[in-house]
Amino acid sequence: MKNLGILGSTGSIGEQTLEVVRKNPGDYRVSALAVMGNISRLKEQIQEFQPKLVAVFDPDRGKLLKEEIIKLKARGPRTKTPEDNPNYPLFRVKVLVGLEGLVAIATSGEVDLLVNSVVGSAGLVPTVKAIDAGKNIALANKETLVVAGELVMQKAREKGIQITPIDSEHSAVFQCLQGEKKESLEKIILTASGGPFRTWKKEEIEKATYRQALKHPNWAMGRKISIDSATMMNKGLEVIEARWLFDVPQEKIETLVHPESIIHSMVEYVDSSVIAELGVPDMKVPIQYALSYPERIKGDYEKLSLSKIRNLSFEEPDTRRFPCLKLAYEALEAGGTMPAVLNGANEVLVEAYLQEKITFYDIPKYIKMAMEAHTPFEYTTLEEILEVDRWVRDYVSNTLL
Ligand SMILES: NC(=O)c1ccc[n+]([C@@H]2O[C@H](COP(=O)([O-])OP(=O)(O)OC[C@H]3O[C@@H](n4cnc5c(N)ncnc54)[C@H](OP(=O)(O)O)[C@@H]3O)[C@@H](O)[C@H]2O)c1
Repeated sequence: MKNLGILGSTGSIGEQTLEVVRKNPGDYRVSALAVMGNISRLKEQIQEFQPKLVAVFDPDRGKLLKEEIIKLKARGPRTKTPEDNPNYPLFRVKVLVGLEGLVAIATSGEVDLLVNSVVGSAGLVPTVKAIDAGKNIALANKETLVVAGELVMQKAREKGIQITPIDSEHSAVFQCLQGEKKESLEKIILTASGGPFRTWKKEEIEKATYRQALKHPNWAMGRKISIDSATMMNKGLEVIEARWLFDVPQEKIETLVHPESIIHSMVEYVDSSVIAELGVPDMKVPIQYALSYPERIKGDYEKLSLSKIRNLSFEEPDTRRFPCLKLAYEALEAGGTMPAVLNGANEVLVEAYLQEKITFYDIPKYIKMAMEAHTPFEYTTLEEILEVDRWVRDYVSNTLL
């Protein structure tokens, strides 16, 4: 029985993680949950999974949850013992707020495995604190490794921490690498669906609304990653994630558009063999693997039928129409703090695009300007990288926009 702490439990990955727990009640127990501010869904999750701890990042929403629980306690119904009350899971849970709340969960003795499925660089501090506390991590929050991959992986190696990827591409590569020697690896090939605008002309993409950008052809995901998929920044972030997760130089990480999303990624070896991981696109499969690793447990998910699919297709990514992918390689090339600048700028700009304050191609335009305004340096501490993250958010919000 593994005790899970899930950061971002109300999101796309968080909810699918809970679905995996529902399917495997004998293997996992939910001991802690954290959200940004969706307390109505969090309350339902508390009733169902009965965690000991929850955290709400937004302090006002956290306070509201505490007040609602106090009111419920006062209202009854009167039962013989508190345990008989249908709201008992809510009476028993400890509610924490803010970043301290997330860190308390990440380091709690109640948690064996931390599932980090928060969106954005907010996931970085809890990841680092969990590593310091000796917790293994199932990581969906790719921004953690984009912003500070070198520091995070170095700490994980020092502490003997297992970071198991949830991102389907990285889960695929992780599986393809099992039992192989690192020296035998020739290159990693990350596949990309190409997103909703794969077949659109540049002039059409230029006018794309955020609603069109949110319509991903193969995956139902959170809003931020959906926009990242439309710009192909998602693949760029994944290249940086792979760079640090697998300790492979960027020259050995290629991307390939594969619209069917059946091959989740591949690894080529020095003898020219290529090993790929395939499956029906369903995030519950890599989530379950990240939870059960190093074991595999039974999963009644849709089975792959290649004879029904018949054709798999591939094309080169087009960085003229999708310049964000190129910017990500450039950020890696520049090194040090530059990927954190790319990421922070992207987070602010995706939000601005979702609020219809900027156009689609303003995203790469302003990211480039933010990168040009920054002189990268080799950071050694978490505080240094957090300072860069704060700087770029302020620069993009208050100088560029
Ligand atoms: N969705 C996918 O299929 C997929 C696939 C691969 C990788 N990923 C990665 O997984 C991560 C999550 O993606 P998603 O699609 O699941 O996002 P999402 O649907 O937008 O969910 C985000 C979750 O994080 C919570 N959250 C946001 N900021 C927080 C904060 N500061 N403190 C605590 N909780 C916070 C949200 O809470 P509220 O509900 O209260 O706002 C929500 O529960 C991202 O890094 C993404 O790139 C996602």
